[in-house]
Amino acid sequence: MDQTASCRWQGSFCIEVTPLPCLLTVFGALGDLAGRKLFPALFQLHRRKLLHDSSGIIACGRRPMGHEDFRIYLRTLPALKDVPEPEMDPFLRRVYYLAGDYLQSGTAHDLAALLEQTGKELDCAGSSRIFYLAVAPDTYLPLVENLAGAGLLEEPCESADCSQWRHVVFEKPFGRDLESAVELERGLLRYLSERQIYRIDHYLGKETVQNILMFRFANLIFEPVWNRNYIDSVEITVAETVGVEHRAGYFDRAGLLRDMFQNHMLEMLSLVAMDHPVSFEADRIRDEKARLLRSLRPPDPGDLLLGQYAAGNNLKGYLEEPGIPPDSRTETFASLKLWVDNARWKDVPFFLRSGKRLNERSSRIIINFKHIPHSIFTGLRGADLAPNRLILTVQPQEGLSLETIAKKPGPKLCIGPLTLDFRYASILEPGENMPEAYERLLLDCMLGDQTLFLRSDTVRLAWNYLTPALLAKEKITPVPYPAGSTPDEVERLLKRKNR
Ligand code: BG6
Repeated sequence: MDQTASCRWQGSFCIEVTPLPCLLTVFGALGDLAGRKLFPALFQLHRRKLLHDSSGIIACGRRPMGHEDFRIYLRTLPALKDVPEPEMDPFLRRVYYLAGDYLQSGTAHDLAALLEQTGKELDCAGSSRIFYLAVAPDTYLPLVENLAGAGLLEEPCESADCSQWRHVVFEKPFGRDLESAVELERGLLRYLSERQIYRIDHYLGKETVQNILMFRFANLIFEPVWNRNYIDSVEITVAETVGVEHRAGYFDRAGLLRDMFQNHMLEMLSLVAMDHPVSFEADRIRDEKARLLRSLRPPDPGDLLLGQYAAGNNLKGYLEEPGIPPDSRTETFASLKLWVDNARWKDVPFFLRSGKRLNERSSRIIINFKHIPHSIFTGLRGADLAPNRLILTVQPQEGLSLETIAKKPGPKLCIGPLTLDFRYASILEPGENMPEAYERLLLDCMLGDQTLFLRSDTVRLAWNYLTPALLAKEKITPVPYPAGSTPDEVERLLKRKNR
């Protein structure tokens, strides 16, 4: 098979590499994440010929069933049920199932035997192995211990370019505070090296989040103005319509700051605000992200606003949700003003906010530029002209817009705002969708590319930054806001109540 396929697409140059054969084990294969995201993403990789012909997948779950039963289950998944059989069957033939309690060491030994057997069947004995832990975070360490006990984490060769990797993928959260994150890391490092650890933040796999780097560093015109001289403020908003859903147990203990800020929000902030990396290599990019996180001023509790959705717009309130204690003080909305203490960003506020049960699902990064210093247009002061805004829409309609001021056709002095608007959907081939974040992340893990995965120091730095806010939130009772409000409405309400 040709390992490198390159294509020109609307004048762009794309390189996608098919990984060498590997055997991927998914723990928690019958769980929500695996069914909604992982198996559909693996199928897409297979369909796009980005899974090597000899690669295989072992699904590991607690429920007893055979390989064929599991394949039938995969056919029922909403994302896969409409795939025609001739397309689905070759994918299903590379999927195997192992039933077992993954906290029992016997399961790891059974897995070792199945990997051995599958390797022979698919002609990929001696290939790389990936273990994807889509399981409860408190089971990470015992599971890794079991894998190590069965000899499954030893790499046949130790060099970084060894093609027989043993990678372990972890879903967030990585701890619930700095102390527990450090403890988890210490435990994992007993069995794995940092090079083998793939910590997922699925926001980094989103196309528009990846685009921040291309946009900033592959164009000449943005970097010169990407600083305090031209930028007035930056807003990062992730609004969701969903409530706590079936995750009451996890969410009520975590709250929105842990669930969204410690990872997705601070990762997006890092990409927007970091300095120029030396190269497009995992560690060079992660070095810059770490440097940025080190420059954050500890959050002032006075700049933190917390809310909790209450009944509204025919939607239940948080306290009425199944599994939520009626006196819970967990925040479902958070807003934080943040400062970066470095030369590039001195005195530029960054407004981060995210919430559940809002009126729409929308994730956006807005760069608000300053007013022009002087206007030459009679009757208009610089301050009368709306400043430029650059809006990066992460979802749902991925794209970017630049708000400018331009002449309107007609009278000689006729001037007004003009938005240059780009939507990714407009340049996709008919019938194609934007790739799902998990496709990119699974592929990169098979390629041994850690660029879009979190390094231990950035995880620690993010927890460290958030610690004062987490301590402050213990003393704050979140303000109720009606479910279905806009983020601006919630923010206004919280500010009013806080005053
Ligand atoms: C997850 C959070 O990491 O991200 C969820 O745990 C949140 O609470 C989700 O709903 C949002 O992801 P997306 O891709 O739907 O924006």
